[in-house]
Order: sequence, then C-alpha cells, then structure tokens
Amino acid sequence: MTNVVPSPSPLAVVRTVADLRATVRDWKRQGLSVGMVPTMGALHEGHLTLVREAARRADRVVASNFVNPTQFAAHEDLDKYPRQQEQDARLLAGAGCHLMFAPSAQEMYPAGFATSIAVAGPALGLEGDFRPQMFGGVALVVTKLFNQVQPDIAVFGEKDYQQLMVIRRFVRDLDLPIQIVGAPTERDAHGLALSSRNAYLSETELASARRLNGILAQGGAEAASGRLLPDVEREAYAALLKAGFERVDYVAIRRAEDLGVFRNDLVDAPARILAAAWLGTTRLIDNMAVRGK
Ligand code: PAF
Repeated sequence: MTNVVPSPSPLAVVRTVADLRATVRDWKRQGLSVGMVPTMGALHEGHLTLVREAARRADRVVASNFVNPTQFAAHEDLDKYPRQQEQDARLLAGAGCHLMFAPSAQEMYPAGFATSIAVAGPALGLEGDFRPQMFGGVALVVTKLFNQVQPDIAVFGEKDYQQLMVIRRFVRDLDLPIQIVGAPTERDAHGLALSSRNAYLSETELASARRLNGILAQGGAEAASGRLLPDVEREAYAALLKAGFERVDYVAIRRAEDLGVFRNDLVDAPARILAAAWLGTTRLIDNMAVRGK
C-alpha cells in the first residue's frame, strides 16, 4: 500500500521518501534519466522555467515542494511563507513535471534529528552576514533531497545567485554525482525578478521594487566602465533609499566565479552585482551580471 495520491494530470504527488524512491527506482530500471528542481512551493513562472529546463535535459522531472524550516531564523517569515500546494501541482503538471515531492516537516526532520552541515567559502558574507542560518539549512535540505531523489541533474535559479554558488561548492566538495544547472532569472515586464515574496508587496512597494533591477544595471555599467567599486556600491545604495527602500542590507560587486572580492576595487574579471533591501517587512534580493552599457 503506497501513499501516492493520484492527481488529475500525469503528475504524481508523493509525500513520503519511501514512495518517492519506489517511483524513481522504477524510472531508473527503465533507463530513464532524472532531473530535479528543489522549491519551497508558491510557484511562479520563474520556477516553471526551471522545470522546463530540467525537462529539456532529463526524461523525468521531480520538483520538491517543501518550506524548509532549517533555513529560516526564528524571526523570519516561515509561518507566513505562502503555501498553495494544489495550485503548485497544477502548474507543475502544465510545465512537464512528472512528480511533486511534498513531504511533511516530520518526514524530513523526524524526532531526534541531530545532523547539520557547515558551509563556508561562497556562503560567507552577503546573505551569510544577514541570514547566518540560511545556507547551512539550504545545504542540509538540498543534500537530503539529492540523497532521496538521486537525480542526474538539478536546476536552480540565478535569482538566488549566492545559493547557486554554495550548492555548486558543496556538490563538488561532497562528490555528489549530480550536474548543477543555473538558469537565468525570470523578470516581469518592468524587470522585477519573480519571487514568491513579491506577493507580500503593496502597490506602492511594488513600484519601488520595480526600480531595483534598473539601479543594479546602472551600478553594473558604472563598474564595467572602470569606476572604483566602493563608489559605485555607495551610489547604488543611495539610489535604492531614494527609490523608496527603507533599508539596504548590502549592494556589492563580486567576482562571478566565487563571489570573492576584487582586491584592487576594480572589475578585472567576470563580475556580478548583488543587493538585498527592504520594503516594509519584505526583504527582496536581486543580482545580475556586470556588463558595460
Ligand atoms: O531556493 C529555494 O527555494 C530554497 O532555498 C531551496 C533550494 C528549495 C531549499 O529549500
């Protein structure tokens, strides 16, 4: 007797590791390759692009749908994080996903759970300074998901660029036999990066949020033109406050390869400009490649 819940589409919704493994084992027995897209649900077009990318690269696609408590600090938005699994399942089916794995917190972290993963390197600084628990929690849950699904490839969005770097690092460090694919950020018609947290924004906040990508593009162009990075970062910071952001956690221009700092304050290798800033109680992050005008 399994817990596989039939859904109206070819998408299976599975809630236990045992059922997940049974399905994936069956696929592998047929010689099918498996792609994975880890998510926390509240899916939007950005996630669906990742699913389509996985479907292009693998015969079967698993999307996980789990709001992972270990990557939230006590004061963060774990409880109010949007949850809409039925709608997510419909969207996943339409995007070519074959299985949604939506475990309970108990299934992922049973009583007595006592293991953590420490990450450094690209996890240090930026988000790591403001959300110190986040990347350890991400590494833990993604490692568990990878062990549960054993995918051939996994697709992550560049929207969470630092997360992508952290995942690439621990996959290499732990010799996990999984190809990590980064997919470009999906944006709305105004350039705002799609995010489940955009749902929290009021109309006025949305107008400010839509300025974020333009300010980063301008900063990137300034940096590419040879200006000193601390000056560019300071100006972008001020521009965000002027655009209506109440608080800016950081604006930083870093090496794209590993998020290391540029020692001489000038861009002399592929770079990324990254920011995190607050509108009311909503924290937005965004980043983009540094390119000249
Ligand atoms: O990017 C996310 O949605 C989450 O951090 C992830 C990778 C699904 C882990 O919970």
